[in-house]
Amino acid sequence: MQVTQANHLPGRFITIEGIEGVGKSTNVNFVAEYFRASGATVISTREPGGTEIAERIRELILMTPSDGLSDLGELLLMFAARAEHLAGLIRPALARGDTVVCDRFTDATFAYQGGGRGLNLEVISALRDIVQGALRPDLTLLLDAPTEVSVERIVGREWLDRFEQERADFFGRVRQAYLTIAAQEPERVRIIDASKPLQEVQLQISNALRHKFEKTL
Ligand SMILES: Nc1ncnc2c1ncn2[C@@H]1O[C@H](COP(=O)(O)OP(=O)(O)OP(=O)(O)O)[C@@H](O)[C@H]1O
Ligand SMILES: [Mg+2]
Repeated sequence: MQVTQANHLPGRFITIEGIEGVGKSTNVNFVAEYFRASGATVISTREPGGTEIAERIRELILMTPSDGLSDLGELLLMFAARAEHLAGLIRPALARGDTVVCDRFTDATFAYQGGGRGLNLEVISALRDIVQGALRPDLTLLLDAPTEVSVERIVGREWLDRFEQERADFFGRVRQAYLTIAAQEPERVRIIDASKPLQEVQLQISNALRHKFEKTL
């Protein structure tokens, strides 16, 4: 079966990554507004999720306690949700020339299911290639902060999901896996120091966006 599709869709595809509470959702909105201000049509979305069926898969994953779903099952559900998200929202938007800003994408799978859970990275790469073909984000903003900052920012949440219930060493491994990806793909992945006050974080983000997209804005 030929599944590869070239990454030559006209729209921009920006993803935002990082461990829990580092400010991804806050800054998805900031990035969306940055592009809207220049007249772009912007779709903000998230993973797992983004379409009706993918949001149902999200709920299934996040509501299931650790003993109710195997690591491999979790990985496959993540990619099932991603396949739906790509087919139902991301690819059509990029084909129209829209800008897509996504809260988490495949780097999160490498970080959480690979780094955190210890699943084989080659298996994850193979699934990525089947599900995405050649499609990759144009730019990924990695919001990086020590795990203590993450814990501080999510403390007080009334309900903790499947991942938030994990221990500090899990998030340490996830963070390291993200940093490894950034070191391997410095052109695509920009590290943002997310431990700084929000205004400084957003200054770093605007600089990264300007640097990457100045010719198309
Ligand atoms: N730079 C910052 N300094 C201080 N607080 C921040 C900063 N960025 C975000 N916050 C606050 O930290 C909390 C978590 O932010 P947010 O929900 O955007 O993180 P997230 O990465 O989306 O978390 P999750 O992974 O759980 O979805 C919010 O209360 C937000 O207002
Ligand atoms: Mg969030």
